[in-house]
Amino acid sequence: MRLKINGKNRTVKCPLDKRLLDLLREDLRLTGTKEGCGEGECGACSVVLNGEAVNSCLILVGQLNDGDEILTVEGLEKTPLGKKIQKSFMKAGAVQCGFCTPGMLMAAYALLKKNKKPKKSEIEDGIAGNLCRCTGYKKIVEAIAMCTK
Ligand code: FES
Ligand code: FES
Repeated sequence: MRLKINGKNRTVKCPLDKRLLDLLREDLRLTGTKEGCGEGECGACSVVLNGEAVNSCLILVGQLNDGDEILTVEGLEKTPLGKKIQKSFMKAGAVQCGFCTPGMLMAAYALLKKNKKPKKSEIEDGIAGNLCRCTGYKKIVEAIAMCTK
């Protein structure tokens, strides 16, 4: 199968029942994407698939299509919006242990790609599927709001 991953065309060969998360981490060594719950509850494994934030632990390679575009946290700095989000997270102090951060960044990216000026409630909705046990979310929401200016 041919996929576009972080802007590069990659040909991948693996069992169709392999999870996208494992394809990324094990086969492609893109270990920035984290596994938390492994069952679609925490968002640590979020990546952007064809413009939508998805839980990569819930997607099997067999559900992907030739030519699908996947952005992971490793590809963020290659995009102007991704760079901006990363800087805002640092500036706002939105990272503590960092385990949720790759997923949060990808959720923020998908949100801001679709909606350049989300309201606070829209930001909260945008990261509703991403759990953070450290920050209390306030600084994460502030970081995303900083990107709207
Ligand atoms: Fe995928 Fe938790 S590891 S949602
Ligand atoms: Fe630790 Fe979010 S910073 S889980």
